[in-house]
Amino acid sequence: MCGIIGYVGRRPAVPVVVEGLHRLEYRGYDSAGVAFVRNNSFRVIRAKGKLGALEEKLASEQTTTATCAMGHTRWATHGVPAERNAHPHCSNDDSLAIVHNGIIENFQELKAELAAKGYVFYSETDTEVLVNLIAECRKDEPELLRAFAAALRRARGAYAVCLMERNAPDTFYAARMSAPLIFGLGTGENFAASDIPAFLPYTRKVIFLDDGDIVRATARDYDIFRLENLEPVAHEPQTVLWDMQAAQKNGYRHYMLKEIFEQPRVMTDVLAGRISEQGDSVLFPELDSLPVPVRLHIVACGTSWHSALWGRHLLEDWARIPVQVEIASEFRHRDNFLFERDEMALVISQSGETADTLAALRIARERGATVIGLCNIIGSSIAREATAVLYTQAGPEISVASTKAMCSQMLMLALLALYWQARRGNTDESRQIPRGQRISALVSLPAVLGDALSAMHEKARELSRKYAKADNFFYLGRGHCFPLALEGALKLKELSYIHAEGYAAGEMKHGPIALVDPAFPTFAIAPDDPLFPKTKSNIVEVQARQGKVIALTNEGTDLSADDIWTIPRLPSPLAGFVVLPALQLFSYEMADYLGKDVDQPRNLAKSVTVE
Ligand code: F6R
Repeated sequence: MCGIIGYVGRRPAVPVVVEGLHRLEYRGYDSAGVAFVRNNSFRVIRAKGKLGALEEKLASEQTTTATCAMGHTRWATHGVPAERNAHPHCSNDDSLAIVHNGIIENFQELKAELAAKGYVFYSETDTEVLVNLIAECRKDEPELLRAFAAALRRARGAYAVCLMERNAPDTFYAARMSAPLIFGLGTGENFAASDIPAFLPYTRKVIFLDDGDIVRATARDYDIFRLENLEPVAHEPQTVLWDMQAAQKNGYRHYMLKEIFEQPRVMTDVLAGRISEQGDSVLFPELDSLPVPVRLHIVACGTSWHSALWGRHLLEDWARIPVQVEIASEFRHRDNFLFERDEMALVISQSGETADTLAALRIARERGATVIGLCNIIGSSIAREATAVLYTQAGPEISVASTKAMCSQMLMLALLALYWQARRGNTDESRQIPRGQRISALVSLPAVLGDALSAMHEKARELSRKYAKADNFFYLGRGHCFPLALEGALKLKELSYIHAEGYAAGEMKHGPIALVDPAFPTFAIAPDDPLFPKTKSNIVEVQARQGKVIALTNEGTDLSADDIWTIPRLPSPLAGFVVLPALQLFSYEMADYLGKDVDQPRNLAKSVTVE
């Protein structure tokens, strides 16, 4: 949940590290800090709050001589957001400094052991324990690499760490276990960071470190060892295809807005190479050697879980595969869950690092299931541990609230439904719309959305001015629109802090409708599909209780509402591809109008690597 970066090279290191922290700030932003060596002692500068507070402090520091530095941006786990808990942390003898993302689960036990030896702790963090443990191990292992490994072997839990030594200010060490860490190879400079955009301005050559890897890096050289025996390992560097543009705002006010507007391009990228030349079949060579699941268990969190709920409709309807959708944090604790033969798990995660989803993947694999990972981040833990991985091609998603990732996941699920439908071969196609027609509808999506986005943005802005005073909101939808109602509500609450509930429209009368009054508006998702008449009845029920309604629908439907928002007509259930951006734009405009921090909402972090 935090971001870390280490740098060594020919440039002044502190500005490189601070710039990297800006690109990692989406991972956590309650405090930040940097460490470097000046005049043979550590300078550790830390500040509570966003990076601006750290930069203010750094403005009066002489930093230009340091060519090695490391930094951290924090999302609090152990210890409240405060300067004393911000990283880096130093060992008691000030010989070592460390930054850490993750949780050392046995830190209390290690802390007691160190305290008994006279160590003093100035923070409530597990990280300060780790750095002192390394210092303690060094009493028996003078070589820092060995002491570092010895300490890490005693730590249980998850970590990505960077370590520096006061007496060797031209070297940093780094290690990972169940937390992301990528090594970047520059020319005369090297990096380690929680995510690639942190060093993307300087290099695209990367090594995705494995759990249990330890790196020692200088400006011109690096070595990677295994934690268990310190045997050297060779990883082939890879070149990432993202460019800096993909990780910048490109003139948009916020990353979120840019990412919403990127969705037509994302859909084009998802479709690339997935449709046969004849346009009549869907290609997933990654899955050709695996059986078609007799039942699919999809596991995910948050927005990715909403994608799964939406995808279930297509997988069941088009491919006729029974689907169960699970929240990862619940699934991982269902001890008696069993997979039958040829049942399969599909885990969905933008980051590929969400702790609960990763745990679910591991449990499914332990229980003998084939697990497909649907991820955005190349080389992420889920991508590496799944039996087969499908990449969603959404590019870097910087805004903490997920937008384009959901669009890419939905499209991949639609393609998967068509792929498995063809492989099963025994579905009654006569009952169904021909596959070729569905493929053409998917191929047309980028153009449909591209043409519609600007007008949708205008409408979202207009509605936000009218509804920004609401303290509560209902989002209603039926069938494939119910998961979208959940997503609309999630986006509104996480961005604008307005209480919002997503409901299956037919459930309202079983209790929630008691809340409706003139100050409690409803956002109804009512495209012109077979369920429209039913949703319309639910809208009328809300109106009968003086509830105000925004209705997202198609031209020509017989509906009256306080605000009718018409969107392009798409065959059901593909309406989701235009409903989703409408919901995203509405939440975006509400939050921006209310002056909220759109890209970095309070209390959140992009990558949830804690349980
Ligand atoms: C909401 C949001 C989160 C994530 C969730 C899962 O806007 O971004 O709900 O969807 O934390 O993250 P991933 O997909 O990375 O596993």
